[in-house]
Amino acid sequence: TPERTLVLVKPDGVARNLTGEILTRIERKGYRIVGLALRTADPDLLAAHYAEHVGKPFYQPLVDFMLSGPIVAAVVEGHRAIEGFRSLAGATDPTVALPGTIRGDYGRDWGLKVQQNLVHGSDSADSAAREIALWFPA
Ligand code: CMP
Repeated sequence: TPERTLVLVKPDGVARNLTGEILTRIERKGYRIVGLALRTADPDLLAAHYAEHVGKPFYQPLVDFMLSGPIVAAVVEGHRAIEGFRSLAGATDPTVALPGTIRGDYGRDWGLKVQQNLVHGSDSADSAAREIALWFPA
């Protein structure tokens, strides 16, 4: 059974014109893009999306970053797409993410209080269902 995951090209990825590159990697891996939207987040959406991070020291910098520009949201489908996209994305910290991954090839630490790491991918089937409903209402 195909699985769906929510992918976000975060504001740094959109601002750096990496959206096409990132979507190309997803398609070349063999996944299908079944939903796509250019969206500007708002604080309520982010509080729901990042519920597990509310209260952590990097939460406010993370929200400020995610509000800093438009985001491309995509629903990506395929067998084991959740795990597969996280593998394409690479480790959270772009400094140590392996070359060959999106974060490893294009990201680095900019010395800010938050990891500007280009992309988000759902971490479980439950998160994916919740996040897809948030970013693609109705
Ligand atoms: P992501 O894993 O997509 O979702 C949570 C985000 O919070 C993460 O990407 C980073 O952008 C950010 N983040 C997670 N951990 C830290 C940390 N220790 N310091 C700064 N930012 C973080």
